Amino acid sequence: MENVKNIAVFASGFGSNFEAILEAVADHRLNANIALLVVDKPNCFAVQRAKNHHVPVFAFNPKDFSSKEEYEKLIIRKLEEYHIDWVALAGYMRLVGPTLLSHYEGRIINIHPALLPAFPGTHAIEKAYDYGVKIFGITIHYVDAGMDTGKIIAQAAFEKNENESVDEVETRIHQLEHEWYPKVLQQIINN
Ligand code: GRF
Repeated sequence: MENVKNIAVFASGFGSNFEAILEAVADHRLNANIALLVVDKPNCFAVQRAKNHHVPVFAFNPKDFSSKEEYEKLIIRKLEEYHIDWVALAGYMRLVGPTLLSHYEGRIINIHPALLPAFPGTHAIEKAYDYGVKIFGITIHYVDAGMDTGKIIAQAAFEKNENESVDEVETRIHQLEHEWYPKVLQQIINN
């Protein structure tokens, strides 16, 4: 295939969005090569998923480095080694620093389980639920130096049913994420 873009997915945990992206590639809904998984938690479940799909993994432990700049320089070396065009954050629980941001400017995307700018940061679903919001959703956005502050690319939403538990809402949010992240990646990277 000519000119297929290489994506690196960054994760820290369960990796269900990573899996959804891999499935979309396998089903030809996403024309891309998932060339690398980058994790800051070497034992996270996303690594197992990468092994199942024969995706190379770069795992690092931030504690082994004296600064974010130091480990991001190493990440960049890996990204270059795999000729990465785009970075898709999928549950990567760290702010991207200026080193990596400037190197991949405009080519790092994140998914967030709330309708930004509401509920940035961690535990967004629980926070929105406890706040009593009626409309839940997801946001896919470019990454900048802030916490979930980059330019919004796409949002999808649904209305919470009465008596729906937080777990049920969370399940629906993840379904939306798995549907929309590959779709948006397809649009962005192939345009
Ligand atoms: C997702 O809800 C994503 O929006 C958020 O972190 C979660 C990651 O889930 N940034 P998973 O690891 O992809 O299952």
